[in-house]
Amino acid sequence: MSRVILEMKKIYKSYGGIQALKDVSLELRAGEVLCLCGENGAGKSTLMKILAGVETPTQGEIFIDGKLVKISKPIDAFDFGISMVHQELVQIEEMTVAENIFVGRYKTKAGFVDNKRLREDTLNLMKELGIYFEPDSLIRQYTVASRQLIEIAKALSHNCSIIIFDEPTAALTIEETEKLYKIIRQLKERGMAIILISHRMEDLYAVGDRVVVLKDGENSGELQVAGSKVDDIVQLMIGRQMTQQFPKKTNSPGEKLLEVKGLTNSKITNISFELKKGEILGIGGLVGAGRTELLRAIFGVDDCQGDVFLKGERIKNNSPIDGLNRGFALVPEDRKDQGLILNQSILQNVVLSILKKMSVWGIMNPKKEMDVCDEYIKKLKIRTSGRTMIVQMLSGGNQQKVVIGKCLASNPEILLLDEPTRGVDVGAKAEIYKIINDLASEGMSIIVVSSEMTELLGISDRILVMHEGHLSGELSMNEASEETIMKLAINH
Ligand SMILES: Nc1ncnc2c1ncn2[C@@H]1O[C@H](COP(=O)(O)OP(=O)(O)OP(=O)(O)O)[C@@H](O)[C@H]1O
Ligand SMILES: [Mg+2]
Repeated sequence: MSRVILEMKKIYKSYGGIQALKDVSLELRAGEVLCLCGENGAGKSTLMKILAGVETPTQGEIFIDGKLVKISKPIDAFDFGISMVHQELVQIEEMTVAENIFVGRYKTKAGFVDNKRLREDTLNLMKELGIYFEPDSLIRQYTVASRQLIEIAKALSHNCSIIIFDEPTAALTIEETEKLYKIIRQLKERGMAIILISHRMEDLYAVGDRVVVLKDGENSGELQVAGSKVDDIVQLMIGRQMTQQFPKKTNSPGEKLLEVKGLTNSKITNISFELKKGEILGIGGLVGAGRTELLRAIFGVDDCQGDVFLKGERIKNNSPIDGLNRGFALVPEDRKDQGLILNQSILQNVVLSILKKMSVWGIMNPKKEMDVCDEYIKKLKIRTSGRTMIVQMLSGGNQQKVVIGKCLASNPEILLLDEPTRGVDVGAKAEIYKIINDLASEGMSIIVVSSEMTELLGISDRILVMHEGHLSGELSMNEASEETIMKLAINH
């Protein structure tokens, strides 16, 4: 076995009354890919932020190459060769790709930024990774996935020996994920040590050597990836066996509720389909196929041509408020941009969507609002000290659950879900699938856009597939499989 290059010993971290980490220890060896797993809120990001100098531990020691070190700010971490790609990207949208990567470290020529060198260094770095983004273009124009790759380039530009990825694949396409796996394998070959946080078991088996699991802020066990089963890892994560990921379907689609005819805008072309009452309609396709844009057009975020009929009556949602008032709700793909007000409490976020809907006829009483909020905290198992907790303080997966709770609280007739379980742990995923099934059984109509095929196959009554803005086909559950979805997704 190769040498231990990093040791974290008996780490504690508390935020006020919340004990995020308790007596956590971790060892890392040169040339290994260590996967850090655990439920939403288990403390994974916190532990890694301590290593990256973003957070300071309440107690505990860190050893690098056997020497006790103190990492009190990010620059200390860089000095010790530690670099981290964060779960929630912090990028300045007005900066260029090159500036983003080399922020604060511009090569200057007599006091001026040497743009030519900056550009060259950026190109070289990207070439090494097999990615390309125009160095002088603004960050703003790129998708979350592309920004993630730019962030990876930035982490590697620090010449580190330890690199931490906090859920890097959550926003990546299948192709980009493969690219990242390749990069990780290359880094490993060069002798670098990698820590990978992920809720996707595929990631673990694709590149992982060893898995360390946290539960409720404590070590709950570890195992070698080779020879271990998904069930073993899940057992360590949630403390029990997962009997089944998907609920037994109990909904039965009724009469036609929504009809979309020839929906068209700059991103989607001539989309027509029907949605029944109590139906769960899955939408598959590659990232960029126009699925998000379709949901946005239906909800009223983006403008479009074409006809939408609700219960036979022609309607047009000109804004999200319109959508909410007509009984639609949307869980957006990017929770930070469109889903949440981060510096407000869970309650304020949940109430906001109820208010928007209720404001037509008056305000709900505060007691009722609190009850609704608590109901979703419980149902979705949101790990929080209470409904007044500021959303920013929640772990990534728990923020996602708030977005879902917020939408459900508006009690929609038609629920539009865009990648609803992104960043959510296996246990909570199963809870969300059950909630979706129950709501449909009670008569709610649901459209789910997902890049996870197992998810589409596990919960849908019918699947539509999109390709480059067009509808490329429809599959009944008898016809649907990963292969048939994929074929339509690439428009075979
Ligand atoms: N700034 C903060 N203030 C208060 N509590 C915090 C803060 N940051 C994190 N926490 C709490 O610490 C706990 C651990 O959070 P952490 O982000 O490390 O979880 P995680 O394992 O990364 O989860 P996820 O899979 O959802 O990303 C959570 O209960 C979270 O609410
Ligand atoms: Mg996290």
